[in-house]
Amino acid sequence: MDKLKGKTVLITGGSSGIGLATAKLFRDRGAHLAITGRDPDSLARALGELGTETLAIRSNAGSLADIESMLEQVKKHFTQLDVLFVNAGDAKPSPIDSVSEAQFDEIIGVHVKGAYFTIQQALPLLSVGRSASIIVTTSITNRTGTPHFSVYGAAKAALRSLVQSLSLELIPRGIRVNAICPGPIDTPGFNRLGLPKETIQAIQQEIAGRSPIKRFGTADEVAKVALFLASDDSAYVVGEEIVVDGGISLVCLP
Ligand SMILES: NC(=O)c1ccc[n+]([C@@H]2O[C@H](COP(=O)([O-])OP(=O)(O)OC[C@H]3O[C@@H](n4cnc5c(N)ncnc54)[C@H](OP(=O)(O)O)[C@@H]3O)[C@@H](O)[C@H]2O)c1
Repeated sequence: MDKLKGKTVLITGGSSGIGLATAKLFRDRGAHLAITGRDPDSLARALGELGTETLAIRSNAGSLADIESMLEQVKKHFTQLDVLFVNAGDAKPSPIDSVSEAQFDEIIGVHVKGAYFTIQQALPLLSVGRSASIIVTTSITNRTGTPHFSVYGAAKAALRSLVQSLSLELIPRGIRVNAICPGPIDTPGFNRLGLPKETIQAIQQEIAGRSPIKRFGTADEVAKVALFLASDDSAYVVGEEIVVDGGISLVCLP
């Protein structure tokens, strides 16, 4: 029951959806938590659910200055980290004709640059213990190809590559790096696509209909996979990307 008893965990994007569900599960399994997000109201709501012993830090995942300052606060609070869950991010449909340089840079900045430097800057904290686990949230868009999400999918594909290379680079230090690759998961993020509610509902119905399991996944179902990767249960799992998608990427692939 206490798989993470006494472990210190940082979850970026821990104020909503997959990150928040994971934070709750990890707390219930004995972890001490730090979470990040941008929106102070969401962070405050998450703290209300997680308990005030959680460290909540406002931080933009695409800003190196924010990442450095955020990890300084984590260091002061915890001294060291056992688990880093690099999960912050969002997705908005962006047809190629309308993608600006700023939008391109923002998507790559949050998902690739931000993830890379979060891992780099957290290394001194992660190397203190005898073993540590880094988990990165990718997406099935990194393997299926998704119209209007080309930059996002490319960013998540880059993350997949980073996980492979960094897992080899960091395993000599006792740090395992793995990824969780979610398919369609019912989170608040899905309602922030910037589309009318009816359009989102129609897209969700269409996706659920195409899915072998005929439904969206839940954030709790992803959190359970994160628990596996965070805990010693996955001690021999290195550089892997676990797909959590109800099988939909199998039927999307040619
Ligand atoms: N839901 C899905 O179907 C699905 C599928 C595949 C992959 N994913 C991935 O799963 C991860 C979590 O998404 P979710 O579905 O749980 O969405 P969500 O409910 O919107 O949660 C996203 C979290 O990330 C934070 N965040 C987003 N952009 C950020 C930024 N630039 N800096 C700091 N924090 C940021 C949000 O905080 P603020 O709102 O305060 O910024 C929030 O805490 C993302 O990496 C997403 O790409 C989701």
